[in-house]
Amino acid sequence: MKIGVLTGGGDAPGLNAVIRAVVRKCIANGHELVGIREGWRGILENKYDPLDRNSVSGILHRGGTILGTSRTNVYKVEGGEAQVIKNMADNGIDAIVAIGGEDTLGVASKLAKAGVHIVGVPKTIDNDLSATDFTFGFDTAVNVATEAIDRLHTTAESHNRVIVVEVMGRHAGWIAAYSGIAGGADIILVPEIPYDIDEVCSIIRKRHEGGKSFSIIVASEGAVAKKVAGDSEMILQDQKLDSFGHVRLGGIGNHLAEEIEKRTGFETRSTVLGHIQRGGTPTAYDRVLGTRLGFCAAELVETNKWGYMAALKGTSIDAVKLEEATRELKTIDLQLMEVAKTFFG
Ligand code: F6P
Repeated sequence: MKIGVLTGGGDAPGLNAVIRAVVRKCIANGHELVGIREGWRGILENKYDPLDRNSVSGILHRGGTILGTSRTNVYKVEGGEAQVIKNMADNGIDAIVAIGGEDTLGVASKLAKAGVHIVGVPKTIDNDLSATDFTFGFDTAVNVATEAIDRLHTTAESHNRVIVVEVMGRHAGWIAAYSGIAGGADIILVPEIPYDIDEVCSIIRKRHEGGKSFSIIVASEGAVAKKVAGDSEMILQDQKLDSFGHVRLGGIGNHLAEEIEKRTGFETRSTVLGHIQRGGTPTAYDRVLGTRLGFCAAELVETNKWGYMAALKGTSIDAVKLEEATRELKTIDLQLMEVAKTFFG
């Protein structure tokens, strides 16, 4: 078989581990591999790179994706589905391994229903995909954010400041909850639990009255204030939508810092971690998880399990239907926030 591999959506540390595993295992099984450049755009525009043992050598520890990525939506391009099918046939591509998040896998799921031979691998630093317990990239993002929180602690303490750390995660608070717990945050704000600014200020005031002179607040970029919950008043970078209809979140950190300083009088700063959480070397956990998922995807190809994706279930890697991965957003376990709250203030 000639198998195309693509990576779509935001990059995540560990993508290269998946590509390497798919290529090595599929070559061992006697198949030919081709890299599809920049996600779905590559198959629509016939952008390919040959993939062999050499091209995946020395990439395991590298962040990003050697194949490039984009947020191209096949179903937003006129005749996109037919174009994918035609281009696959013209280039002799028999099957695709699509590595991506809800958008990339959503397209994969529709193409699978249209008869395209596709298997998926779940990816996102946000860890918000259902049907898999964890996604690779999440552990690295949490480690980066935790290290940043540790560093911010020392400067906050030296200056008697409140520091708001804004982390990624879109509409799920996984990165905020994990890095906030690991970094000993004094308050963690997640999209799943709308916050009350008076309550936030009161927790900080009490903490400072109790003798502390600094505080660290970890806020998920998708956190919303109570009165606007479920509303479109989430803080956005701008009103633009990408081809999957997503807005660009961001700005909650600055907003909170201004409000907190105004209401409490404590000097407050905000730090937006942004894409640093996504870049650079994957942790050992993400390399291993990516490798195991890639290995499983190669087995799915070998056994013609089209329309399935590799997923982490407990400590095992299993096959689940692609549509299960995109059925609903996996928001955080609220029990986690009960644990976190014990350390607030
Ligand atoms: O989904 C991954 C993610 O990093 C989100 O946490 C974040 O909101 C978004 O992508 C940022 O997207 P972009 O790379 O387009 O700025």
